[in-house]
Amino acid sequence: MNASPDSATPSPEGEPAGRPVRDSYSEYVEITLPNDANPLGTLFGGKLMQWVDLAASIAASRHARSAVVTASIDSLTFLRPVHIGQLVTLRSAVNRVFRTSMEVGVKVFVEDLRTGMVQHVSSAYLTFVAISGEGRRVIPPPVLPETADELRRFEQAGQRRAYRLANRAAR
Ligand SMILES: CC(C)(COP(=O)(O)OP(=O)(O)OC[C@H]1O[C@@H](n2cnc3c(N)ncnc32)[C@H](O)[C@@H]1OP(=O)(O)O)[C@@H](O)C(=O)NCCC(=O)NCCS
Repeated sequence: MNASPDSATPSPEGEPAGRPVRDSYSEYVEITLPNDANPLGTLFGGKLMQWVDLAASIAASRHARSAVVTASIDSLTFLRPVHIGQLVTLRSAVNRVFRTSMEVGVKVFVEDLRTGMVQHVSSAYLTFVAISGEGRRVIPPPVLPETADELRRFEQAGQRRAYRLANRAAR
């Protein structure tokens, strides 16, 4: 993969300067099946991580309108177990675009289909880089926050990036 930064492909001519965050809003739903469980019979953490990465990559691809790769996941906390037969809904959106990378936020909810009770089980921040089919870096358009929550996440994404890059593993 030819990924040198200066081979980045700018967004096509005439594209709007940026896209609203809401254009990247994505929802990914899975029902927890026996094959997704750990030996205790609850959802295996690694399976939830896969779903989080998938849900986030959908939002990132929607925004960049290109393929994306995961550069990093900050942290992932599992607030409560998810039981077989429960519905897992993962909501994702692009919080901020930097130069070639994008921060995506994911919120995970579990629903008990018998009672209708919905609980928050996890949240995560992931960084993606857009890559063209030829393996060249794609510069995503800026993302435009519109709501108070989107503006807060946009601002906080800047702080998270500073922390992320300060702690980026020595290469
Ligand atoms: C992600 C990847 C393309 C970055 O390549 P690189 O040579 O480190 O490129 P750069 O240093 O130019 O970084 C590119 C962007 O990614 C960001 N980035 C790179 N590593 C990062 C990390 N660990 N955390 C957060 N951001 C990161 C940089 O800050 C930069 O962002 P900016 O352009 O907005 O400033 C490269 O590491 C890669 O291909 N990783 C494997 C991706 C993959 O296959 N993931 C699937 C799971 S294995």
